[in-house]
Amino acid sequence: MLLKRTTSSVVLGAMLASTTVLAETITFADSVTTVADTLVIFHTKEGKNSDFSAFDKESKGHLSKAVKAEDFSSEYGSFLQVVAPYGLHYDRILIVGTGPQAQLSKDKLTALGGNLLAKLDTKLTKVIKVSTDDLVSSNTAASLLAHGVSLRAHRFEQYHNEKRSEKTFMFDVENGEQAQAAYAPLANIEQGVFLARDLTSEVPTEMTPVDFANAAKELKKLGVEIKVLTPKQIKKLGMGALEAVGRGSKEGARLVVAHYQGNNETPIALVGKGITFDSGGYSIKTGASIARMKSDMAGAAAALGTIKGLALNKAKVNVVAVMGMAANMVSQFSIAPGDVVKTAEGLTVEVVNTDAEGRLVLSDALWYARQYYKPEIMIDLATLTGSKVRALGDRYAGLFSDDEALVTELTFAGKQVNENLWRLPLGYKDMLVTDIADLKNTGSGGPGATTAASFLQYFVGDVRWAHLDIAGNALSSKAKDEVPTGGTGFGVRLLSEWLMTKEK
Ligand code: BES
Ligand code: MN
Ligand code: ZN
Repeated sequence: MLLKRTTSSVVLGAMLASTTVLAETITFADSVTTVADTLVIFHTKEGKNSDFSAFDKESKGHLSKAVKAEDFSSEYGSFLQVVAPYGLHYDRILIVGTGPQAQLSKDKLTALGGNLLAKLDTKLTKVIKVSTDDLVSSNTAASLLAHGVSLRAHRFEQYHNEKRSEKTFMFDVENGEQAQAAYAPLANIEQGVFLARDLTSEVPTEMTPVDFANAAKELKKLGVEIKVLTPKQIKKLGMGALEAVGRGSKEGARLVVAHYQGNNETPIALVGKGITFDSGGYSIKTGASIARMKSDMAGAAAALGTIKGLALNKAKVNVVAVMGMAANMVSQFSIAPGDVVKTAEGLTVEVVNTDAEGRLVLSDALWYARQYYKPEIMIDLATLTGSKVRALGDRYAGLFSDDEALVTELTFAGKQVNENLWRLPLGYKDMLVTDIADLKNTGSGGPGATTAASFLQYFVGDVRWAHLDIAGNALSSKAKDEVPTGGTGFGVRLLSEWLMTKEK
């Protein structure tokens, strides 16, 4: 049976109206008979390798000769491409090493799918048959490989004249319907990831707080409740810190709320930093780092992307995303270093450094989430500090929480989807005292990622809380596994994985 996933397109509000996210065509069937230019088979360490033997026999030993000549060891992630021998009606055969099958975890299969796409991403391959007969539990393995293929194939093509050519992947599996059923929820999560990536990759003048709010409104069609607060309303509610950061740009700040209510339990809040461009303000950024600061809204993008995936999956969870949006710009109206702002929490903050703006917008967004949604748990996501990048680089996001259960659950969820977390300490709240206000927005020395997290701690009340510092994870300049270059959508898969275990 052939189940076809139609090519889906996503439209991102007014400014991105012409952007369509083109996905690969991915099908699953018990036996694929359609003609393909490329055949993919797997070579496992301890597996049956019956595909390999069958084609080897058909080609009178050509495949085993190639394996020997190229010293192919079937190590995980190794590839051997051979021109299809006489008699086989393909152009090429790609042999993929899996290593020991027992070690083929979810994250490894997804990554392998990503690298498979990268290997075949030339104009010469268009229709690819992937035979998963030799993989243990072929249906779930195929769904994860497909997930990796699709994630790696995504491009933000708004500004390219030449678009990437799409491919068709036909997975030959044990049971087409079961494989498709395993893939369907992953395909929905992909749509959330693609949204987060596109929002992050879009250039700063086309992705302002208002543009972001418009993109959020697109989720109304999925039954998501969207609220957008203007600078006036933000000020009226007392959110002086968010309002102040927004003051440097013409359109000002927005608070964007996206509520997906899939059950009647107490909600979980995702709070996102949404700085659509971080110039640093008067504490202006120097050097090359400023050019990447369109991605300073990746936390908000991940929160919104997660909501989209949950809504498409009709997940039985109650999740609200609260996103503090502003452009941190230099103007006559910007805050100046030394200014004091008043948060909705009631605490006054001396802004010693206008480049430590993320914690300011988050302080009011965290307050708003607590005040209006009384959440059971709050997870905030923010490209918060350069200090985090220096400590952990881009292979881990920083995880800060005093809640041991949350630390365990989030770390585990991250591992399943290749979005890894590394715990860093809290405990530097006292570094933020100043003589002119209740708090200041940078620490007197101390570890930067931790003083930033400790600042946030003043605004979480007694709600269970974890902070993810995703600086360095949000925008990739080198494709790896299932993640192409550009906005990564980091956090969407991790949070979806975590939230889907909470369904009731
Ligand atoms: N958006 C930056 C953090 C950042 C740095 C994100 C590199 C992604 C890559 C943040 O607003 C910032 O500027 N943080 C400052 C804080 C400092 C002034 C206390 C930093 O980390 O340098
Ligand atoms: Mn900054
Ligand atoms: Zn920033």
